[in-house]
Amino acid sequence: MPGLLLKILLGFLMFLNVGSGFGQATKNRAQKGNKASSPSMPQLVSQNGKHTFYVDGKPYLILGAQMWNSSGWPAILDKTWPQLRELNCNTLEVPVYWEQIEPQRGKFDFANLDKLILDARREGLRLVLLWFGSYKNGQSQYVPAWVKENPQEYPRMVDGTGRSIGVLSSLSEKNRNADAQAFTAMMRHIRQVDERYKTVIMVQPENEPGSLGTDRDYSTQATQLFKEQVPAKLVSALKKQPGSWEQVFGPEAAEAFSAYHMAVYINYIAEAGKKEYPLPMYVNAWIKENRFGRAGEHPSGGPTSNMLDIYKAAAPGIDLLAVDIYHRNYMQFRELCEKYGRPDNALFIPETGRGIAFARFHFYAIGDYNAIGVAPYGIDPFHADPNDKRDKEKLDNKFSGIAANYRLLRPAIPLITSLQGTGKLQAAAEEDGLGDELLHFSNYDLLLTYGFPTYKEPKEMTGRVLVGEIGPDEFILIGFDTKFQFRPKLGSGFSTAEFISVEEGTFKDGVWQKIRNWNGDEVYHSTLTPEGVMLKIKLKGLQSDKFDNKPNFER
Ligand code: DGJ
Repeated sequence: MPGLLLKILLGFLMFLNVGSGFGQATKNRAQKGNKASSPSMPQLVSQNGKHTFYVDGKPYLILGAQMWNSSGWPAILDKTWPQLRELNCNTLEVPVYWEQIEPQRGKFDFANLDKLILDARREGLRLVLLWFGSYKNGQSQYVPAWVKENPQEYPRMVDGTGRSIGVLSSLSEKNRNADAQAFTAMMRHIRQVDERYKTVIMVQPENEPGSLGTDRDYSTQATQLFKEQVPAKLVSALKKQPGSWEQVFGPEAAEAFSAYHMAVYINYIAEAGKKEYPLPMYVNAWIKENRFGRAGEHPSGGPTSNMLDIYKAAAPGIDLLAVDIYHRNYMQFRELCEKYGRPDNALFIPETGRGIAFARFHFYAIGDYNAIGVAPYGIDPFHADPNDKRDKEKLDNKFSGIAANYRLLRPAIPLITSLQGTGKLQAAAEEDGLGDELLHFSNYDLLLTYGFPTYKEPKEMTGRVLVGEIGPDEFILIGFDTKFQFRPKLGSGFSTAEFISVEEGTFKDGVWQKIRNWNGDEVYHSTLTPEGVMLKIKLKGLQSDKFDNKPNFER
């Protein structure tokens, strides 16, 4: 009997033990879960002209992809995740539609959004949500039916011929409040379901806003306002002399008037949303630098390059003004990066084209203009654009360069973001008629030569490289199909740059992981491989070239 009692007692103690152990484990898990799942808010920090986008408290680079316009639906997303995995992107930009979220006035449906967030979280992807609300490409197609069917209550703009057009008036408080109400409901909901996880890292209220079809609203109300003085606050922020819109802005008066009212409208919506959940927010531009160069032929009143100052003054709740760039000419691409990457504006390119040219251009954006992110548009094949080939092979080709970029760049994000804005990061890429290029660093110049691999016909322009100067004699090279030769600076007293070491490797949690040393043939050729490679190079300036192992074209 005492034996039985002892057994019961022991069993009870074991139960307690197991019980407390289990309790402890649960507690640990909960604590860990809490810690891991309550990271700090995503934030854009700008200091002395350097912009850093923080996610989970760490500098982040959006290596993104954007869905086609009608693809933000579960049926399409479910088929797209595998493609996204192949792309190696870290962020998905997806539309969220006012018409879908508030199909009846005041009745919200977040089922699609919930599934999107859960699925993205499962995939380890972050989300940038594109609010297709009052404005989408200078039109108002995405407003719910109860808005579309009721233009008396939700007024539209009027063009110069007196015709009402499919663009909501940005002067109407009714329009603005209706949009803001839906947007804030969505932001509140995101906070509820995602605050612990931060799957959603940024929001774009509206999409390429402005008015397509007219340079300004010609309604009676708008024309009356247009004749009045430019608001004093705007005039003073722009350091201009007071006057009417025409006096202050001359030939750009109609566009400036539209931009101001559009900026105020969107800012109201963004700030209302931020009160619910303060995620960073940006507005993207349909650029004016194209053949639709006249206001109204591109959406008038969007954050085009000539309207950036107005947006900065009138929309303080907007963290940055982004630029959609589809230009295939690298000079135009770079010019736009220069215009939007300003001390007061972080460069973000939420839409680019696909294909190898854009894979090269992403290097410029990140390396030369300190972009906080890039993304090709139209990642999924589920669209109705008759001009865009949709078969898998074509799609794979279009994304292959970008997938390779992302695979190579992702582990280097801590390095890239630490060098951005310091002058120690530069990009270079092969372009039509550009056979080589010389980059300048503190102690060395770097000659880059393109045209590789030589066996590939037809030759695609795949050469692209990011160069980070990580010490006086140390560099990181990240790229493809580019031959590199370091030369000591003229006047340095050295004739040659000798390789002390050339390590191939990658980064893990910001720490360099060597895979192998490059020497012999690899150093003789000194050419970044077609698959892409990351090299850490240590140099020494020499007066004679006795032990020189630098590549030499004469050999
Ligand atoms: C720019 C828009 O912002 C996108 O939503 C999409 O319509 C693309 N143009 C199509 O090229």
